[in-house]
Amino acid sequence: MRLRFFTLVCLCCCWFVSSEGETVSCSKIVPLGFRSGNISITEFGGVGDGRTLNTKAFREAIYRIQHLPRVGGTLLYVPPGVYLTEPFNLTSHMTLFLAAGAVIMATQDSSNWPLIAPLPSYGRGRELPGGRYMSFMHGNGVQDVVKMGQLMDKEMCGGISGDRDLFSLPDQTLLNFNVVIRFVTILAPRDSPNTDGIDPDSSSNVCIEDSYISTGDDLVAVKSGWDEYGIAYGLPSSNITIRRVSGSSPFAGIAVGSETSGGVENVLAEHINLYKMGIGIHIKTNSGRGGFIKNITVSHVYMEEARKGIRISGDVGGHPDDKFDPNALPLVKGVTIKNVWGVKVLQAGLIQGVKNSPFTDICLYDINLRGVTGPRNPPWKCSDVSGFAHQVSPWPCSELSSNQQGSCANYS
Ligand SMILES: *[C@@H]1O[C@H](CO)[C@@H](O)[C@H](O)[C@H]1NC(C)=O
Ligand SMILES: *[C@@H]1O[C@H](CO)[C@@H](O)[C@H](O)[C@H]1NC(C)=O
Ligand SMILES: *[C@@H]1O[C@H](CO)[C@@H](O)[C@H](O)[C@H]1NC(C)=O
Ligand SMILES: *[C@@H]1O[C@H](CO)[C@@H](O)[C@H](O)[C@H]1NC(C)=O
Repeated sequence: MRLRFFTLVCLCCCWFVSSEGETVSCSKIVPLGFRSGNISITEFGGVGDGRTLNTKAFREAIYRIQHLPRVGGTLLYVPPGVYLTEPFNLTSHMTLFLAAGAVIMATQDSSNWPLIAPLPSYGRGRELPGGRYMSFMHGNGVQDVVKMGQLMDKEMCGGISGDRDLFSLPDQTLLNFNVVIRFVTILAPRDSPNTDGIDPDSSSNVCIEDSYISTGDDLVAVKSGWDEYGIAYGLPSSNITIRRVSGSSPFAGIAVGSETSGGVENVLAEHINLYKMGIGIHIKTNSGRGGFIKNITVSHVYMEEARKGIRISGDVGGHPDDKFDPNALPLVKGVTIKNVWGVKVLQAGLIQGVKNSPFTDICLYDINLRGVTGPRNPPWKCSDVSGFAHQVSPWPCSELSSNQQGSCANYS
């Protein structure tokens, strides 16, 4: 049987924040105009007419960047136009630069969507045993990649079939912000399955900022491998910054997990605007995962219309097979969520730790999540968790007492 999902996907440049002075940005750390090489997709036969397939052009341009490296790397310039393409791999030391009015559109034809070997840290495809679909713009083992868009005033969309993430970035292992994604718009229809926006997986030093993501699954999800495969692989995600990201999804806005078997630490997500959400902020893991989730900070979040505002859960996501170790319990310690304002939130919060591995140092400060019908919505529900809450409305459960301790003691 042939399944067709008509999942629309559109990558285009997005709202341009003319950031002056005080605005914190990845570019303060990674200079974005530093590439010594500059090639245009048109030199490789790229045609932005919305109909011509540009797969060969993208793959050849990126092959050139990979095999004829320039000191300081190369910028791949995409002029205005709509560039239809099948998926392609990114390479290290490159900037994918979309000029104002440039759109990279995924092909409608799902028959050529490559299946690639599963990540060793997953053991199998995420949704089905066997291989996995490559991401639309795929990076494996890459470093020093920048994706960047400019202002555009018109949005256009194409289509692909479902069951894949739009970006996944496994295996970054190197220095400060090696991967930067900024000024991009990522769109997939609300009902498209498994279309996470951006998933840094076993990746470090990633900065995602000033972007709009609207998909059928989590907008940004930080991961690091699945159960026994992820534990054996043992490569964490760390030092991830997510900043000034907006969007809408029936699942989570900012997510950690649920595949976190290699560990996730030092994640900062701030200035996040969410609309029509399943869950605003979702930290998720499971027994059998092992690994850890440590030092996660989410702050300055505005959400409007959400089923749940905040969820931290220890029983989410399935297992790759029946060889997982049920005694491999995850450690969740040091999650700070602060300055969150929500309206039309059906349930403010739900925190369910793992029975023999309770979540600790869960700190909630200055949170106001209003219900649909009035200022109050159903109470928080918590189990196997300890931490501290201050100025949280509706008031969370007694487990998050006002007894400041652990990392929550840093609050003043
Ligand atoms: C790269 O080259 C294109 C023309 O191919 C030009 O329009 C663009 O401004 C150049 N970008 C940089 C950063 O030099
Ligand atoms: C893209 O990279 C994957 C590994 O992540 C590899 O399996 C695949 O062959 C590559 N595809 C192309 C077209 O280079
Ligand atoms: C993450 O950042 C911390 C603190 O700046 C640093 O000590 C650590 O080496 C970084 N981790 C990686 C993998 O780069
Ligand atoms: C915790 O994460 C933050 C980023 O949110 C980072 O600045 C800080 O250095 C981390 N703390 C430790 C102890 O690594």
